[in-house]
Amino acid sequence: MNIEEIIKKYLPEEEGPAGVLAESMIYSLMAGGKRIRPSLMYDAYKMFGGTEEVIEPFMAALEMIHTYSLVHDDLPAMDNDTLRRGKPTTWSVYGEDVGILCGDALLTFAFETAAKGFAMTAYPDRAAKAIGILAQKAGIYGMCGGQTVDVINTGKQLTEDLLEYIYRDKTGALLAASLMIGGALAGSEDIDKLEETGYILGRAFQIQDDILDITSTEEELGKPIGSDERNNKVTYVTLHGLSGAKEEVHALTERVKTLIGQMPGEKDTLLALVDKLEKRTY
Ligand code: IPE
Ligand code: IPE
Ligand code: MG
Ligand code: MG
Ligand code: MG
Repeated sequence: MNIEEIIKKYLPEEEGPAGVLAESMIYSLMAGGKRIRPSLMYDAYKMFGGTEEVIEPFMAALEMIHTYSLVHDDLPAMDNDTLRRGKPTTWSVYGEDVGILCGDALLTFAFETAAKGFAMTAYPDRAAKAIGILAQKAGIYGMCGGQTVDVINTGKQLTEDLLEYIYRDKTGALLAASLMIGGALAGSEDIDKLEETGYILGRAFQIQDDILDITSTEEELGKPIGSDERNNKVTYVTLHGLSGAKEEVHALTERVKTLIGQMPGEKDTLLALVDKLEKRTY
C-alpha cells in the first residue's frame, strides 16, 4: 500500500476557469507531510480484518481535511506562518483569498471523495457510519471547535483543563477519526475504545509538536520554529517545561500501547507506528 499513490488517485482536475483552485489544492496536498492519519486509518482497518478498496477514498479524504486545517491554520488571521511541509504556505503562494477558498474546497472535496467509497464496499452501512465520524470530528465537536478555543484564548493564561480541551479537539479529533474510521469500515464493535485511544494519541502528538516547535530546526521540521512563542501561545511546554512535556508524551504513548494491546487482531504494525510517533523529530 502506497499512500502517495492513493492520494494522487483522488486529486481534483486542474482544468477550466477555476483551475487555480485545483492547483492550490494539489500544491498543498502534495507538498509532503507525514501522512500519519491515513497510516493510522489503514493500520486500524487491517487490524480489524478489513480487505476492501473502500479504505482508500477515506484515507485520501481524511488527509484532505487535515491539509485544509493546516492551510487555514497558517493564514495571517491565524498563525501567520509562511512555511509548511518545507514549502511556502498556500496563502503565501496563491494569496489569502485563494488560500481560504483552497481550504473550503479541500474540506468539501473530502466528502465528495469519501462518498466514492459507497461503490467499493459490500457494507454501505459501514461507509455511512464512517462518513458521520469524518464529519463529526472535523467540525464543531472536533477540529474546528478546538481551533476556535485555541485562537480565542491566544495570549491568555490557560488552565490545564482548557489546554486539555484544546488539544483534544484541535488535534486529537482527527487522530481519533483515523482509528475510528478504520475500525468502522472493517465492521469493528470497538469504536469507543478506538476513539479513546485516538484522543490520548492526539494529546501526545500535539505535545510533541509543541516540543519540536522549540527544539527542532526549520529545515528538519519543514515549518517555522518558534511559531508558538511568536503567537503568544500557552502550550504544554509553557506550563510544564521541556522535560515535563517529554515525560508526558512517553506516559501517554505507553497508555496508547496498552489500549491497542487489548484489541483483537494483528497489532504489530499499529504499535510500531505509535512508537515511531513518540520518537519523531519532525
Ligand atoms: C501538524 O500535523 C498539525 C498538528 C496537528 C500538530 P502533522 O505533523 O501531522 O503535519 P504533516 O501532515 O506531517 O505536515
Ligand atoms: C494546529 O496546531 C493544529 C491544527 C488543527 C491545524 P499548531 O498550530 O501547533 O500546528 P502547526 O505547528 O502549525 O503544524
Ligand atoms: Mg495553530
Ligand atoms: Mg500553526
Ligand atoms: Mg505547532
